[in-house]
Formats: sequence, C-alpha cells, structure tokens
Amino acid sequence: MVFLNGKFLPIEEAKVPVLDRGFIFGDGVYELVPVYSRVGFRLDEHLARLERSLGEVKIRNPYSRAQWRDIIYRLVDAQAFEDQGVYFQVTRGVAKRDHAFPKDAEPTVFMMANPLVTPPLEVVQKGGIAVSAVDNRWLRCDIKSISLVGNCLLRQLSAEVGAAETILFRDGKLTEASASNVFVVRNGVILSPPKSSLILPGITYDVVTELARANGLPFELKEIEEPEVRGADEIWVTSSSKEVLAIVALDGAKVGEGRPGPVFARMYQLYQEFKQKVMRAGKREAVSA
Ligand SMILES: Cc1ncc(COP(=O)(O)O)c(C=O)c1O
Repeated sequence: MVFLNGKFLPIEEAKVPVLDRGFIFGDGVYELVPVYSRVGFRLDEHLARLERSLGEVKIRNPYSRAQWRDIIYRLVDAQAFEDQGVYFQVTRGVAKRDHAFPKDAEPTVFMMANPLVTPPLEVVQKGGIAVSAVDNRWLRCDIKSISLVGNCLLRQLSAEVGAAETILFRDGKLTEASASNVFVVRNGVILSPPKSSLILPGITYDVVTELARANGLPFELKEIEEPEVRGADEIWVTSSSKEVLAIVALDGAKVGEGRPGPVFARMYQLYQEFKQKVMRAGKREAVSA
C-alpha cells in the first residue's frame, strides 16, 4: 500500500502522468523518515525540513503538519513490518513542459514505506570503506531535492568498488558524502562541517551533535581541510538508514588503526540507547536526547 494524491492504493496502481514536473525536471523535494517499532524517529524534525525544502523551491505545501503525520501513520499502520523507511516526495505537479512555474498546478504527493535496512551488527563492528571525490553538485545541497543525478554519479564511484560511501571535498574542504553527513575524530574531538548551503542538514547529524553535547563528548563544528580528514583518527558517516557507521579506509588508506575507533563505539552505543528510549516511550511524539 502506498499513498498518492490523497489515496491509499497498491503500488502497481499508483501512476503519475508523464508531464509531472518531477519526471520532466526533477522539480520536487523529498524526505526519508526512519520508523522503529512503528514510531517515527524525529518525525517533527523531518517534517520541518520538508517544510523548509518546499519553501526554498517555492512549492506550495499541500498539507499541515498534523495532516502529514496522519498520512504517515496511516501508511505505517498499513504495513506488515515494524521498522520502516517512510519515503515521501512532493513535486510541483503536472503541467505543459515549460521551465517557468505553472500558474495552477496541484503539487503531486507520493509516499511509500519500505522495510528499514540499517547496517547489520557485523558491518557496524567491521566498519565500511569509502572513496573520495570532488563535490561537483550544485550550490544548494541544503535543499532535499529529488534532482539527485549529481549524488547518484558520486555514489556510483563507491558502489563500483564495493565501498559504502563517497566522501566529498569542495575547494579542498570536507562537505558531506553522496547520501550521508560526515564526522571525523581528531585527538579525541568530534568534528563536522557547520551547516551551510553546501551540505544537507541531516537529522541524524543533529542527533549525533545533541548526543555529543548531552554526554560531554568534546565536539566542534568547523570547516575541515582535506588533509585533516585523511589524517583523522576516526571517520563516521551518518544518515537515517546508515545511522552512525565508521569508515575504516579512505581511498585504500587506513583510517586510524583501520578499525572502528573508541569514540565511534561510544557514539554508536549512545545512538542505539537513544533509539531504544524513543521506542520504549512508544509515543508518536518528540523525545529529546
Ligand atoms: C546528501 C545527503 N547528506 C546527508 C544525508 C543524511 O540526512 P539524514 O540524517 O536526515 O538522513 C542524506 C540522507 O539521505 C543525504 O542524501
């Protein structure tokens, strides 16, 4: 069962006209919310980011926050599995092909829930490998746009060599990875680039920074030069589906000792505990770190 424009229906029956601007221009925005034991993780924050993305690309938000929550949980409750990745996108709608915005198109809303696949414990314990590339995407990476061909090309570089991620540098500075944010640890201090138009403001990034603060782990948001990443003691990638994953080799060179480090182990534990707290609360509302 998926949701399309006000209706719940089987995925085979969910059809979008070819003139949808999502199909023609990639003119839309999206979200992916992890759902554990049928409870949305940071749902309000995801909805706030959706509202912001829609505002930045000037697409009318068709639903109130309460309506979004209602649709999401109706879809969640219709699935047979407990842990879900709820994907939803809003496009500018169907109109004659013209770059300029149509006057009266209705936004298209599509939502689906798939089983949530997080890294299995053996992958978490072993860590992943990554390659690097020049970040050649557009300059509005803060918008969660469905125009992802730049990210897809970059992700493919790592996929082709069996790596978990492609870590990106723009003008010699760390931005993020093709589908995740990046943290490094140097001399016991957790570092990550500050939010800017060059990175997606990750919900997991926020959780990790909150957990670091709440637990007194040394932490700083600052611009990080490429050699600081290559010489880091630890590198992590974070996203709603990867959660927090250690990177143990970058472009074939060991990161630190070549295995997940102690600060990662601590953060991974904190993250899992926080998740448990959200699930135990069993509440479909905000729980803070
Ligand atoms: C480019 C990019 N950066 C960062 C993230 C992490 O964001 P979040 O933690 O909200 O999943 C994603 C997630 O898909 C992403 O695509």
